[in-house]
Amino acid sequence: MPELGVNIDHVATVRQARKTYEPDPVWAAALAELGGADGITIHLREDRRHIQDRDLRILRETVTIKLNLELACVDEIIEIACQVLPDQATLVPERREEITTEGGLDVVGNRDAVRRASERLAAAGIVVSLFLDPSPQQIEAAADLGVQAVELHTGQYASARGPELQQQLEQLIDAGRCVRQAGMALHAGHGLNYHNVVPVACIKDMHELNIGHSIISRAIMTGLERAVREMKQLIE
Ligand code: PXP
Repeated sequence: MPELGVNIDHVATVRQARKTYEPDPVWAAALAELGGADGITIHLREDRRHIQDRDLRILRETVTIKLNLELACVDEIIEIACQVLPDQATLVPERREEITTEGGLDVVGNRDAVRRASERLAAAGIVVSLFLDPSPQQIEAAADLGVQAVELHTGQYASARGPELQQQLEQLIDAGRCVRQAGMALHAGHGLNYHNVVPVACIKDMHELNIGHSIISRAIMTGLERAVREMKQLIE
């Protein structure tokens, strides 16, 4: 059965909207762990728009399941990762103007930078995963670098409709086969939700799914009624 990595970036997004202390992603990680998560995923972006350095440091001390850090091939962030030592590092592309990670890492076009980053992380004892579009060329390039895992970008699948949905799923299945044949662990994520996760979870040897936005969205809806009731009781 695939493991579930819960991405808690958007808890920090809400906190950063007010630059206050709540909601705290450290608290959210503990609740996700109680809910049965197999891992906690966070993205320390260069612009620090959601997760902060303090979150990473405290989460490293408090998370008892797998801590997966998403990061770009940027020296400053790689250095932080090598000091804090998450269990796993997932290298992702990063552009300041993007709303969320768009597209997979271009390993073919940035082989040297990705090699340098993955070698530094691996030398620190961190499992390295690369976030890739489901493209055989990119997967082959990842295998050449000797990384342990590939996370397939499921964004195109998640936004596909009609006959394109099946085509996108088949592309993920074929890419999954390439990842396994190259001896790497198969991960997937981005845009997965309560409606589209099952076919991806059923891909042979799927090892890890990283899901954030949909779980945090659901949590707001399932928790709002109780939160209002508690405030109403105080006011009364
Ligand atoms: N995997 C990676 C590499 C990501 O960058 C993200 C988004 O931060 C996710 C998974 C989770 O995507 P979503 O929030 O759409 O579930």
